[in-house]
Amino acid sequence: MIKLNVNNIVHTVDAPDDMPILWVLRDLLKYKGTKFGCGLGQCGACTVHINGQAVRSCITPVGVAHNAKITTIEGINDKGEHPIQIAWKENNVPQCGYCQSGQIMSALTLLDKNTNPTDEDIQEHMSGNICRCGTYPRIKKAIKEAAA
Ligand code: FES
Repeated sequence: MIKLNVNNIVHTVDAPDDMPILWVLRDLLKYKGTKFGCGLGQCGACTVHINGQAVRSCITPVGVAHNAKITTIEGINDKGEHPIQIAWKENNVPQCGYCQSGQIMSALTLLDKNTNPTDEDIQEHMSGNICRCGTYPRIKKAIKEAAA
């Protein structure tokens, strides 16, 4: 049994230490906002935070999250009122929407360390999050608005 703090709720899950956090979140705990894209750590769709750091949950074993705090997209603000959620909505960022929870989780870690990111800062930080719909210009605009 593993005790996990997800979005400030402590869960006890019956999972092997090497199970990817993504499967624990989606299949065992039913946090469905975090998405499976490539399963190889290459697309960013599965991004969550562990102790405030962005990680690829598809390749991160749940064993590393003992005594750690996991935050998923559901944990940001359940009313959709976080500044980044508002900026995303006001800019109509998503197209299909599939990658967007990962995009937001990555963007939050940029804004944590840089409250006035340049285009280049955003490009560099977000380059690991792939969007097949090509919403990158709107993502960039929304990040800048959320930072303001
Ligand atoms: Fe984890 Fe693509 S699903 S990086």
